[in-house]
Amino acid sequence: MEMWEWKRILIPYEQAVEELEVKFTSIKNEYRLLEEYSPIEYVTGRVKAISSIIEKSKKKNIALENIEEEIEDIAGIRIMCQFVGDIYKVVDIIRRRDGKDLFIVEERDYIENMKSSGYRSFHMIIKYPIQTAFGEKIIFAEIQIRTLAMNFWATIEHSLRYKYKKNMPKHIEERISKAAEAAYLLDQEMAAIRKEVTEAQKRFQTESNIVSDIFDNIKGLTEISGGKDMHELYERFWALWEEGDVESLQEFNYELSLIAQTYGAQKL
Ligand code: GTP
Ligand code: MG
Repeated sequence: MEMWEWKRILIPYEQAVEELEVKFTSIKNEYRLLEEYSPIEYVTGRVKAISSIIEKSKKKNIALENIEEEIEDIAGIRIMCQFVGDIYKVVDIIRRRDGKDLFIVEERDYIENMKSSGYRSFHMIIKYPIQTAFGEKIIFAEIQIRTLAMNFWATIEHSLRYKYKKNMPKHIEERISKAAEAAYLLDQEMAAIRKEVTEAQKRFQTESNIVSDIFDNIKGLTEISGGKDMHELYERFWALWEEGDVESLQEFNYELSLIAQTYGAQKL
């Protein structure tokens, strides 16, 4: 194939990569604007180099006139996430678009089913319609969704594999496999830490809601009683606050609302 032919073939792939990068980066930006946590950390994309396309077509015995139907990763998108759980959130976001702006052809979960190399990532092969100057063209694209740790490992493993070609020394192979285990443990540890932080945040939120309720109730009682006997309530609040037990604060708050009800009734 001549260079101009390659260029003609690759134009829609360039466009697809650009569009998909914009689309997934926009999702991240939306979360940021809403001041919410984004399951997407960052997005990269690339069109496969002509030399790599030729290499792959030789390896897989694909005639050059069939590469568009047979090679699914000429357009490649990578979505990096902080946590493994985020990957499945991104998968859901993409699934919800199936039949709209993209069409899912295949999903490969190399997280549940790690490859023997130690490779982990979630892959989605999609069909993606491109509006060209000459009408619509539907092309394949591969989306790889992975954590930062998975990406770190895959990037280095890929460059080492490239460097050694087929002659990877056994001891290097073993160390790469150990490094994959370390990346896996890192993801697990990060998920565990995150869970703990989220739970602490939830506890803090519950606690501050109760405290704010307690102050509302005491303020209400102060208004009804004209400020009498409030001292004792504040003392009890501070004692409970110092204990730091959310349940006793909750009970105290309940007690306060009962008192407020009684006072309210008496006033009537
Ligand atoms: P390809 O010929 O590479 O397309 O293989 P395939 O059609 O069986 O697809 P597979 O899902 O195995 O791999 C697709 C892509 O995932 C590759 O092009 C790589 O980007 C990535 N990948 C798969 N296995 C490995 C691995 O062991 N190491 C690294 N670094 N990347 C991998
Ligand atoms: Mg492939």
